[in-house]
Amino acid sequence: MSDVNRKVLEEKAIAPPEGFRERALVGSLAEYERMYRWALEDAEGYWREQAKLLDWFEEPKEILEWELPHAKWFVGGKLNVSYNCLDRHLAKRGDKTAILWESEDGKATAISYHELHASVCRFANVLQSLGVKAGDPVAVYLPMIPELPVVLLACARIGAVHSVVFGGFSSVALADRIRDCKPKVVITADGGYRRGRIVPLKATTDQAIESCPSVQQVVVVRRTGEAIAWKDGRDIWFHELVARASENCPATAFDSEQPLYILYTSGTTGKPKGVQHTSAGYLLQCAWSTRLIFDLREEDVYWCTADIGWVTGHSYIVYGPLANGATVVMYEGAPDQPAKDRFWEIIEKHRVTILYTSPTAIRAFMAWGREWPDRHDLSSLRLLGSVGEPINPAAWKWYSEAIGKNRCPIVDTWWQTETGSILISPLPGATPAKPGSATKPLPGIAPRVVNQDGEPTKPGETGYLVIEKPWPSMLRTIYGDDERFRRDYWQRIPGVYFTGDAAQQDADGYFWVLGRVDDVIKVAGHRLSTMEIESALVSHKAVAEAAVVARPDEVKGEAVVAFVTLRSGEKPGNELHQQISDHVATTIGTIARPAEIHFAQALPKTRSGKIMRRLLRELAQKGNVTGDVTSLEDLSVIEHLARAKGMDEG
Ligand code: PRX
Repeated sequence: MSDVNRKVLEEKAIAPPEGFRERALVGSLAEYERMYRWALEDAEGYWREQAKLLDWFEEPKEILEWELPHAKWFVGGKLNVSYNCLDRHLAKRGDKTAILWESEDGKATAISYHELHASVCRFANVLQSLGVKAGDPVAVYLPMIPELPVVLLACARIGAVHSVVFGGFSSVALADRIRDCKPKVVITADGGYRRGRIVPLKATTDQAIESCPSVQQVVVVRRTGEAIAWKDGRDIWFHELVARASENCPATAFDSEQPLYILYTSGTTGKPKGVQHTSAGYLLQCAWSTRLIFDLREEDVYWCTADIGWVTGHSYIVYGPLANGATVVMYEGAPDQPAKDRFWEIIEKHRVTILYTSPTAIRAFMAWGREWPDRHDLSSLRLLGSVGEPINPAAWKWYSEAIGKNRCPIVDTWWQTETGSILISPLPGATPAKPGSATKPLPGIAPRVVNQDGEPTKPGETGYLVIEKPWPSMLRTIYGDDERFRRDYWQRIPGVYFTGDAAQQDADGYFWVLGRVDDVIKVAGHRLSTMEIESALVSHKAVAEAAVVARPDEVKGEAVVAFVTLRSGEKPGNELHQQISDHVATTIGTIARPAEIHFAQALPKTRSGKIMRRLLRELAQKGNVTGDVTSLEDLSVIEHLARAKGMDEG
């Protein structure tokens, strides 16, 4: 568990800036409360009305069929997700820019709704020509280039199920995910750019699919032009396929519950879980929340800085904004390439009005200093967002002052891969903010903070964050493991959805999400499992046992601390330290590289042999152990560890 006992700041709420409130879609707390009450008292009526945000080929007959833990939303309805993101905009805003792509080397490409539609239709025909049918999984391992949203929308158009793997994952992690969902087709690129360097995606894919017999075809986007290995008969160039494909691909009507995608995320075991989302409920709640939370207007230039490899990019770069006909900025590279003002330069250049980014990015900007944003005209901005981890009040205030110039409200949005869309967030023109709190639930969402028996906690008391009622964009299952879906989310506290987060509610009913209560950690907002890192560590030939815990990190929120014992005959030292660290990076990805590795003679265990992570956590966070050690089998272990850790640091 991370620092869940930290005391939340009881600060006075900050009202939405007046100039913003006047023009906002929802302009008062009373209006929010009215919406909330409506959704509470008549959930089906509320969602039936919201469903009008989408274009349906057939109206749903029933709003919700709920047999815990399985929900079906908008039952009997038929629609096409890509039609809703593209075709329906063509008459009104066909020439409007859908995607404004900024490459890492500074070139901007504007892609209109007409052009995006044509590219998606072409690639949908390509997929069909490769034998991909509705319901078939398609693995996607691409950098942040326009082909990525094209591929996703093309899958959606023909009812295929995309499974995007973040381009920072290694070949082993990619292979694990491909083996789980068994796609016939993988879509990748020759490489991607990161801080001017080439990330060899095709080589990583080649390595991964050596152990993935399901894969028959690899479609390769040319991005870097570097020489790559090529397997005739299996590998095909994206541009060659598209050049031959027709632009005519009518959007087929699919059932509301047609699977849309699988996205793997870390859980409490070493095996990542395939979070399964479906079509209508997911798309609707993404579209609806984008509109409400980002107060979206026709003329906005909206920029979410996430990578489409994570859920934030799925919901708030692709599906939510495009369903609304928005102009979306998509940036290929790093925030400090070529210099530490790249974000501010992009905002000035494209007159960005809405910026949605992560607390880790904000803390890095804070550390780099005001001089970088101060060089640029940020007056186009009108709204700021934060996502992925708790934002500390100091970072919140810096964001508000240095970037928002105290004119822009901040929406601190709480949600998860599993929830599909934002569930707790201020409405920027209505909800007074408290820095560090995601504030209040959206209409239709019923979060509670409870103890382990499911009883509500008192204001200011820490408990488990649960959600009481189903919502349209919730995950439907874990791909191939419905039992794990029940166990992880619905049985921990029977009858409610278990988020895995600790939280408090204050006397005003505001939610303060404090961090995870399980073995999930968030490093720079990236979700990792301590178990996954432990299995990577023990797969190194020198390592006998490993335990991984998190400690707070000023910029990244949390950092990975590993304690390892070595096999007999292995000698601890700098070289081995580096080797083990590299091994984690090549097994999972550089995002999982431990910040600290400590060699230990033994790990602290209970008499029944369970590793006492609580003690290691204390050691990692404070450098010593003061907690209860009575169940420890061998007391001297902890003294050794503390001494060794002290020496490593000294
Ligand atoms: O612990 C919460 C944290 O991120 C977790 C979900 O991670 P992931 O599935 O990767 O989705 C990230 C993008 C939504 C949550 O269980 N989290 C997310 N947003 C916030 C947050 N913690 C505090 N405040 C937030 N706004």
